[in-house]
Amino acid sequence: DKPRPTVRADKRLIPVGGNVTLTCSVDNPTEWKYYWFRHTGNISEVQTVDEGKSENVISISQGGVYYCQGGRGSPVFFTEESHRINIEKRVSNMASVSLRPDWPVIYSGETITVRCEISGGRNNEWVYEWSKPISDTLPTNEYRIVDASESSSGNYRCLGRNKQDLYSSTEWSDITTVTVSEQRPKAQIIPDRDSAGGTVTLTCSVKPSSSSSSSWTYYWYRVEIASKPVELKSDTNGELVTSENGLYFCRAGRGRPVYYTESSQSVTVDIPDKQRPVVTQQPNWSTMYYHREIILRCEIQGQPTDWVFEWISSSGDAPSTQNDILSLDYSFSKYYWCRGRRKSDPHDVTWWSAPFTSRYASYPHPAASLSVSPDREQHFTSESVTLNCGGNSAEWRVMKFSVTGHLIYLRICWAMTGSLCTINRTHSDKSVYWCESKSGEFSAAVNLTVHNEDLLLVSPVHPVTEGASVTLSCRLRGENKLSDVIFYHNDKLIQNDSRGELKISAVSQSDEGFYKCEHSGNVSPQSWMGVKVLPRPEHPSFPVLLVAGLGGLSGKILIILLILLSHCRYLKGDSFL
Ligand SMILES: *[C@@H]1O[C@H](CO)[C@@H](O)[C@H](O)[C@H]1NC(C)=O
Ligand SMILES: *[C@@H]1O[C@H](CO)[C@@H](O)[C@H](O)[C@H]1NC(C)=O
Ligand SMILES: *[C@@H]1O[C@H](CO)[C@@H](O)[C@H](O)[C@H]1NC(C)=O
Ligand SMILES: *[C@@H]1O[C@H](CO)[C@@H](O)[C@H](O)[C@H]1NC(C)=O
Repeated sequence: DKPRPTVRADKRLIPVGGNVTLTCSVDNPTEWKYYWFRHTGNISEVQTVDEGKSENVISISQGGVYYCQGGRGSPVFFTEESHRINIEKRVSNMASVSLRPDWPVIYSGETITVRCEISGGRNNEWVYEWSKPISDTLPTNEYRIVDASESSSGNYRCLGRNKQDLYSSTEWSDITTVTVSEQRPKAQIIPDRDSAGGTVTLTCSVKPSSSSSSSWTYYWYRVEIASKPVELKSDTNGELVTSENGLYFCRAGRGRPVYYTESSQSVTVDIPDKQRPVVTQQPNWSTMYYHREIILRCEIQGQPTDWVFEWISSSGDAPSTQNDILSLDYSFSKYYWCRGRRKSDPHDVTWWSAPFTSRYASYPHPAASLSVSPDREQHFTSESVTLNCGGNSAEWRVMKFSVTGHLIYLRICWAMTGSLCTINRTHSDKSVYWCESKSGEFSAAVNLTVHNEDLLLVSPVHPVTEGASVTLSCRLRGENKLSDVIFYHNDKLIQNDSRGELKISAVSQSDEGFYKCEHSGNVSPQSWMGVKVLPRPEHPSFPVLLVAGLGGLSGKILIILLILLSHCRYLKGDSFL
């Protein structure tokens, strides 16, 4: 049997500038000469490192796979090849991990790049090896973390390995820690009125704040009536100075693709002494007929010559800069707003007028219905509410009316699918909703409120008809109805027992008013429950049917006017209607 030598190394790693000593051992060592071989991974490319040396020790300074053989006599008789020994070599280049962009905390969903930088040498000289959480060898020095999540958190380190000689590598770099937060940051807005009172400075910041606040770009919005929020500007200083009244909010974004924080709460900028113009119409009839032109006028107190007028309509156009406009719209009722901008000081703008509409009559106006699901007046934030319009029309829109400070909003539900409008609010809200059809049908208006609280009253959205029965209850977020509930009517305790329901078997007018409930010390917001009084002969809101006959023209024309005064009661409350 041929002998087989064994190889030993004093160490497996050649330090920078150092060497490793290999020893080839075979029985009767003095009888043999020594042959050394090396390759760097490809066994078809074996190099001879040394041959015919009488010493069985060599010093090497290159990495690779080494083995030896002994030989003696002439012609040379060779032993078997020894087993292989892998020797790694460290080169003097230093690896380091950098983040681009260099944010200490990144948020779930963001995209960042980790880079392995190697000092000296050429960039294309290396392949890059990463430890966990990447655990991979990559041909380029960049690794993109797309859509970061908690599993992207960790200590990143890398090394470079010579492409030509995979047994030569840098040391592992120091670690760079990446922290991915699952919590989405939120923008926060702080208003500050200057002492003269003419302007307001709004400051936007990101919560939770981190030392990388400079990485954010701040986006500013003002909510204009009847339209989507207007983007005002975006920059990195997070400040907006304005003298224009309105509802403002901001958000911040960074990176590419842009990652946005949650939007801030809205703040109302309400500089005192601003006027609110009034829209009037001519001719000033309460109901207009088809194909009648009307003139709308924007009226501001004082010097009319000092103002430039701005108009907005619910269909988004800006019809005029004069103080009056011509309205000729026959489809969906159109709402108009106007405001004045002072010629001598263009930053001085009035409030927008209250929304104005001139309804073109189509006789008789059939009533539409509006149903709400879940069927209650109070709703939880982040739970969706569906409004459904019913009636003889193919095209519907849901209108929303709300008042915040001096701001009066009238908005169209943009997310309509057929006759359904779905709302899902993250902030509390109190608004009035109704349906309108293209053919002129209107539903009654309903109050809907959205609350951050976890305890809500379940009460009807529509007024209850006199004599009908109604049941009120109390509900915790995510749970069914509760028992052990206290009910209040106009702040007076009216029921305190374990039934959990307030049942009124025959509603009368005295039951109208504000209701709220209480459960283990928590009190719900209150809601108005209306009572629809049944028409009585002596009651002034009895519907009146007027029938007028006209004979003698071409055939017979019969005009029927049906005036539902009890219905009009709801409309009168909102003066713009
Ligand atoms: C190997 O390294 C040792 C010190 O670690 C040094 O004394 C010796 O001269 C080196 N040998 C060669 C051949 O470079
Ligand atoms: C190994 O070396 C041979 C000879 O140089 C070459 O033909 C072959 O492509 C190499 N194989 C690899 C996997 O690099
Ligand atoms: C409502 O919105 C919240 C947050 O925006 C979301 O978590 C929730 O799933 C939404 N609810 C529905 C029913 O769509
Ligand atoms: C809406 O609530 C107010 C009180 O907040 C009440 O006066 C009004 O009648 C309610 N409207 C309807 C349609 O219930």
